[in-house]
Amino acid sequence: MTFQNTREFAQQLDAQDELKHYRNEFVFPQHNGKDVIYFTGNSLGLQPKRARDFVNEVMNDWATHAVEGHFYVDKPWWDYHERFAEPLSKIVGAKPAEVTVMNTLTVNLHLLMVSFYRPTKTRYKIICEEKAFPSDQYMFQSQVHFHGYDPKDAIVEIKRREGEHNIRLEDVLSKIKEVGDELALVLFGGVNYYTGQVFDMKAITQAGHNAGAIVGFDLAHAAGNIHLELHDWDVDFASWCSYKYMNSGPGNASGCFVHEKHHNSELPRFAGWWGHNKERRFKMEPDFDPVHGADGWQVSNLPILSLAPYLASVELFAEVGMDRLIKKRNQITSYLEFILHEIDAELPDAEFEIITPSNQEERGCQLSVFLHGQGRSLFDYLMKNGVITDWREPNVIRFAPVPFYCSYEDMYEFGQILKQGILLKK
Ligand SMILES: Cc1ncc(COP(=O)(O)O)c(C=O)c1O
Repeated sequence: MTFQNTREFAQQLDAQDELKHYRNEFVFPQHNGKDVIYFTGNSLGLQPKRARDFVNEVMNDWATHAVEGHFYVDKPWWDYHERFAEPLSKIVGAKPAEVTVMNTLTVNLHLLMVSFYRPTKTRYKIICEEKAFPSDQYMFQSQVHFHGYDPKDAIVEIKRREGEHNIRLEDVLSKIKEVGDELALVLFGGVNYYTGQVFDMKAITQAGHNAGAIVGFDLAHAAGNIHLELHDWDVDFASWCSYKYMNSGPGNASGCFVHEKHHNSELPRFAGWWGHNKERRFKMEPDFDPVHGADGWQVSNLPILSLAPYLASVELFAEVGMDRLIKKRNQITSYLEFILHEIDAELPDAEFEIITPSNQEERGCQLSVFLHGQGRSLFDYLMKNGVITDWREPNVIRFAPVPFYCSYEDMYEFGQILKQGILLKK
């Protein structure tokens, strides 16, 4: 499609958008009486309007049934989390028994590493991406320390080549081969949080397995954003937070995937009563008998009040389906990319550079823009003018035109504000 940088063209795309009604399912912060242009769904997704009803339902059940809400309400709390299995499995490409919700992302990755990072004297190294999210870096360091190894030796980062913004798949695969027999675990992001680069999880998993290692993914920026086939790709384990593309609310519960081939295994795990045999849980027996499936990694009974808005959001995903979201994501992200190039071309100097891959297969809905001209002051200008983005040091603004609720007209409008912001400072 040939794009045009005009309001009429953007409005035409909106009129043809089969998901346009979903914008109305979300609550937008207001700026001068208008919806903001929201580019930070990769950080915190907007609130689904129906989330409030789901929360109110739990509040009412609690008020009217108190402890009996565990069993005798419409959505009993003792197995509330099981309502997520079917819709989440579709979002991440898994079997329902392979997914669960519990805790928060870093906590879950730690718990999964208890099972899946089992270093030995000879096989103890972890491969990860350079500039992994800091929480993952701290996690790797602390896990390696915990097992008595030296992080400088045990953690192998795959680096970008000099002068390049993204990591080459060939470099990941060759490093996996090179570390070979010393490699215990490959734990990569599905999408890099900084550049928005999507990694080839199928190829990385295969290479990790060929080297005799376990392969897991941090899907914080992938779940609800890109196409995933965790089961078929043979990924061993994964976890994601739900507050970004999954719109579940600040700091909300995380999802986990454990491949079914591990469900019967004798893998060690840190256990708690919510992972115990469901039928016998309340018999209060002393010996742990894990639930078959990812639910067997549960530890505590779940925070139902925070699962409620997550369930509302998951219901929306089930209605729309990832295929339709990805179709719009590709088009709206390309339109944003076009607008950015158009604005840059209209300006006297090269002001910015998109560091996210231009190939649709290697990106989701985030475009990271490196500013060569103004830095933080441009970001501040955008924020003051109703464009909500985020800033990452040293000079990057990330834009995520989330297909659920962003419009094409938002992209056009943003381009105009961006141009004004740059010209004002000239
Ligand atoms: C890629 C990635 N990993 C891990 C985290 C940490 O998540 P949490 O604080 O929910 O553990 C984040 C948070 O934004 C993230 O983006």
